[in-house]
Amino acid sequence: MKLAIIGAGDVGGTLGTAWARKAGHDVFFGVTNPHSDKTQGLLRQIGGKARAGTAAEAAAFGDVIVLATPWPATETAIRSMGDLKRRIILDCTNPLAMGPDGLGLEIGHGISGGEKVQGWAAGASVFKALNTTGFKNMAEPVFGGVRSVMFVAGNDQAAKPKVMALVGDLGFEMVDAGPLRVARLLEPHAMLWIHLALNKGFGGDWGFALVRH
Ligand SMILES: NC(=O)c1ccc[n+]([C@@H]2O[C@H](COP(=O)([O-])OP(=O)(O)OC[C@H]3O[C@@H](n4cnc5c(N)ncnc54)[C@H](OP(=O)(O)O)[C@@H]3O)[C@@H](O)[C@H]2O)c1
Repeated sequence: MKLAIIGAGDVGGTLGTAWARKAGHDVFFGVTNPHSDKTQGLLRQIGGKARAGTAAEAAAFGDVIVLATPWPATETAIRSMGDLKRRIILDCTNPLAMGPDGLGLEIGHGISGGEKVQGWAAGASVFKALNTTGFKNMAEPVFGGVRSVMFVAGNDQAAKPKVMALVGDLGFEMVDAGPLRVARLLEPHAMLWIHLALNKGFGGDWGFALVRH
């Protein structure tokens, strides 16, 4: 598959590397400075399956557009890509901001970051996923033989299998969590991971898994 990954930081870089290496996908990073040492180093590390340019150039290339930008940069990045009608967007962001109690969600419960993304990308099929675990787990989602879980929320039932398969290529146990408004639950769920990682000594080397009777 041809993937546009907007942002080549911890999340974008890890996902691009894993998708190219594990599943042979072709990756085009959309970044503010494609010639930076950091981006060029990432391209060398991935090899021939990756290139970089502007977000608009990446979007023109990709069958799926993956958002891996800091929340404050996300609206600008989306608007820089022009018309996104009928495009598939996989939104990995969390609407994080510093508050009186430290890092928290800027919005939530009544509206989600995923739905804000849908508002900025009019006519696109937006999916929320890959926001509920740390970036290192996106490369190594299997813990002692147990796959950690990844939820996908989105409205477009025709496009959903493609998105589920793409995220599943990384090795997660996949769950269709329902429509995009379920991002209102997935973003606080991400905040729980962040809280345990940063404030409760869990660090980044763990993930959520499902168990069933
Ligand atoms: N880190 C995690 O473990 C984790 C896990 C799940 C979800 N998330 C979410 O994923 C998103 C990315 O997190 P991250 O940790 O990967 O952040 P990061 O390491 O700071 O990387 C962000 C990337 O976005 C790029 N960028 C900024 N503005 C841009 C624009 N207008 N157009 C294109 N690219 C732009 C940055 O480029 P420059 O460096 O050139 O500015 C950088 O490559 C955030 O919303 C975060 O909440 C993070």
